[in-house]
Amino acid sequence: MRPLAIIGGTGIDDLEDLEVLKEHSVQTPYGEPSEPIQEGQLGEHSLFFLQRHGSHRAIPPHMINYRANLWALQFMEVGAVVAINAVGGITESMRPGRLVIPHQVVDYTWGREHTFDDGKDGKLMHIDFTEPYARGLRMELLAAAEAANIPHEAAGVYAATQGPRLETSAEVQRLARDGCDVVGMTGMPEAALACELGLPYASVCMVVNPAAGLGTLPLTLAMMRDTLVREAAAVQQLLSQLLRNR
Ligand code: HPA
Repeated sequence: MRPLAIIGGTGIDDLEDLEVLKEHSVQTPYGEPSEPIQEGQLGEHSLFFLQRHGSHRAIPPHMINYRANLWALQFMEVGAVVAINAVGGITESMRPGRLVIPHQVVDYTWGREHTFDDGKDGKLMHIDFTEPYARGLRMELLAAAEAANIPHEAAGVYAATQGPRLETSAEVQRLARDGCDVVGMTGMPEAALACELGLPYASVCMVVNPAAGLGTLPLTLAMMRDTLVREAAAVQQLLSQLLRNR
């Protein structure tokens, strides 16, 4: 089985138990990935890790080179990608502290390099994106969450917004009417690019705040960070279990 890759999001700057053996600076036709890709060993499994915001979280969501990141992971011959995404919760049950394994996406992003299809080779890339997340990989994540006793939501619709600003309360109401459960800024075009490359891809979302207008507090980064620290521990546990089950 080809090794798994983890794309870390806000709050997941490294994998605690990963013994890093090598770092790969991959040059891609699309420029540079967010940072060199770590290759290492977690228990008896090989694993690749890439923090999509780069080290010290310098790259904002709309400026991430999603194409270079996915292309580089495929170049490293990873078998599947698990993405970690921090999100705001819209649906009542998706409270701060909750992990969500989303099953659907609504894309509100714009102006991002969102496809490998440059129209040059005469091949149309109308990928089937009916199910944006790989079913088998989602099932593996759900089984791991069950086995490790990690409270989670087994499905959810992810709204990908442009950022970097957070939403207005009217925008969040609209997302709710659209059927979205959580909102984040990095889920797209990442999921679609993985699909274009034929890489099985799934996401683990960490709800770090009630989406705009749904909580009593103003949204502060400090508040999100507190929740993130707690959830990051659960995510690390989930990933370890995922690997143990493989
Ligand atoms: N909106 C968009 N992205 C986010 C949020 C949010 O409320 N929280 C964390 N990432």
